[in-house]
Amino acid sequence: MEHYPVLLRESIELLDVQPDGIYVEATCGLGNHSRAIAAKLTTGKLYACDRDAESLAKARANSEEFVDRIEFVHVKFSDLQSEMKKRGVGRVNGVLADLGVSRYQLTSAERGFSFQNDGDLDMRMDRAEGQTAADIVNFTAERQLADWIYQLGEERSSRQIAAAILRARPIRSTLHLAGVIASATRRAGKLNPATKTFMALRQLVNEEPEELDALLTAAPLLTAPEGRIAMISFMSLEDRRVKRAFQALAREGRAEILTKHVVVPSDEEVYSNSASRSAKLRALRMLQ
Ligand SMILES: C[S@@+](CC[C@H](N)C(=O)[O-])C[C@H]1O[C@@H](n2cnc3c(N)ncnc32)[C@H](O)[C@@H]1O
Repeated sequence: MEHYPVLLRESIELLDVQPDGIYVEATCGLGNHSRAIAAKLTTGKLYACDRDAESLAKARANSEEFVDRIEFVHVKFSDLQSEMKKRGVGRVNGVLADLGVSRYQLTSAERGFSFQNDGDLDMRMDRAEGQTAADIVNFTAERQLADWIYQLGEERSSRQIAAAILRARPIRSTLHLAGVIASATRRAGKLNPATKTFMALRQLVNEEPEELDALLTAAPLLTAPEGRIAMISFMSLEDRRVKRAFQALAREGRAEILTKHVVVPSDEEVYSNSASRSAKLRALRMLQ
C-alpha cells in the first residue's frame, strides 16, 4: 500500500528549499516528501533518514532519478546529530519531519501496527531493535499498563483494558489483542475500541515521546541561521510538544515562528485522503 504524502505542498513551501542547500528529511518513509525536496535541488543534497530499513529500501527504489542528490540514512531521531557529524555534515538549510507511522507500515499485517489485519504483535518501526508490543502486553504489571494506556492513548477505559489483557495473557497477535480490548470496553461509536490502546502501545514500543523530544533538541542545533524546520504531527500530544518547543525557541530569540496559526490540510486533501484529517504543520526559521 502506497503512502499519500500529507500537507506536501504546504510543508515544502514552508521549507523554502534552496537549489544548492543541504536538507534533512528525518522521516523519509517511502520518500514522497523527500522526492519533492530533491526535485528542487540542483547542486544541493538531501539526507533522507528513517529508522525503518524496509521503508528506506522502498524509498531508494522509488527515487532512482534523484540518486545524485539523495543519501539515504538508517537512523533514529536520537542518533541523528551524531550520525550527521559522522558524515561530516555541518549545519543544514532545513529539517523536515512528518511524524508517526506511514500507511505502508500500518497496512503491512506482519508489522503488527494494525488492529484490522492479523499479524504478530510487533509494532517496531525498526525491526532490528527494542521490545515488541507483545513483550509489553505480556510482561508489564497491570497498574503500569493501565497508566500507559491512559497517558499515551488518552483511553478512559484503561483499567478495564489492562485487567482484560492480564486475564488473556499470553497475547501474540494483533487481532487477539483487538478482541480482548473490544470485550473489555463495549464502546459504541465510530472509533474502533482498539484504536487508543494500539496508539499507546505503538508509542511505547518506539519510545515516540522521547524520540520526538530528541528531534526537537537536535533539529535547531543542526539547522543554520535562516534555515527552516517544518514538522507535521498527527496526534495532539505530539503537536503540543512541537508547539511548546517552537515557542521556547522563539522566546529565547533563537527562532521566528512562521506558522502563527497551525497549518491543517485543505478540505480537498481530507476528502481524497481521510487519514490526513488530524495532521498539523508547524514551521520556524532559525535566527542563530
Ligand atoms: C508518516 S511517515 C513519513 C512518510 C513520508 N514523509 C512519505 O511521504 O513517504 C513517518 C516515518 O517516520 C519514521 N519514524 C518515526 N519515528 C522515527 C524516529 N524516531 N526516527 C526515525 N524515523 C522515525 C517512520 O518509520 C515512518 O517511516
